[in-house]
Amino acid sequence: MPVITFANTKGGAGKTTAVLLLATELVQQGYRVTILDADPQRWISRWHQLSPPDEKLRVISYVTQSSIDRHISENLYKTDYFVVDLPGAQTPLLAKAIGLSDHVLIPIQGCAMDAQGGANVLELLRFLEDKGGIKVPHSVVLTRVNSMVTTRALLAVKMLLSERRVEVLDTPIIERAAFRDIFDLGGTLHSMDEGRISNLDKARQNARAFALEMIRRAPLRGTKPLSSRIVHAA
Ligand SMILES: Nc1ncnc2c1ncn2[C@@H]1O[C@H](COP(=O)(O)OP(=O)(O)O)[C@@H](O)[C@H]1O
Ligand SMILES: [Mg+2]
Repeated sequence: MPVITFANTKGGAGKTTAVLLLATELVQQGYRVTILDADPQRWISRWHQLSPPDEKLRVISYVTQSSIDRHISENLYKTDYFVVDLPGAQTPLLAKAIGLSDHVLIPIQGCAMDAQGGANVLELLRFLEDKGGIKVPHSVVLTRVNSMVTTRALLAVKMLLSERRVEVLDTPIIERAAFRDIFDLGGTLHSMDEGRISNLDKARQNARAFALEMIRRAPLRGTKPLSSRIVHAA
């Protein structure tokens, strides 16, 4: 039951949107998913209240530093994937969630490259590895990428990050109206009306490619046991 955590200490990086896209697409692929909503703003929980129930998807609200490992252990056999949405701040919860994760995804806005919030997370990951011997697989996912941006520009960003030995997902998350509307409308990209949302087909393709890439990178098998996840890093 892989735990995939989205982390960036800056608000507005695209974490919550990416959490929702990944979780709903994993459900679409047939997996049972539990979202741990650790953001006090509770965007995911609010979306869940608006949405028709789906037995494959649970959302746990008010997740805190002291409750997160309990939520994981209680739901270990009821879910295939955990997806964690964190607040945009550097908190003890961030270090704890990272220690519990099988994969940390760091959303960074593709065009603006306002990477400081992402760099904080990368630093923390390096600290855990160097000082604690805890190696957590992680990658950057470029978000809110303009659909007109050339592959060449994206390649340049990837080169820059790879020079710093940071893995970048092949699939960027594109800036799409559908990814905003889903929070207002509830439901998923698959329940939205094609006639009313522009480029919905492209949005669906993008979300699907993103989820398939994450299934490859964090497969169901080979996850670490709970006992090895608990860390008490500052
Ligand atoms: N791929 C995207 N396409 C369109 N709007 C997006 C996209 N990603 C994020 N946004 C918008 O940007 C704002 C911040 O995104 P959000 O996912 O809430 O970031 P965070 O959780 O990191 O604070 C929200 O208004 C959201 O609707
Ligand atoms: Mg958020």
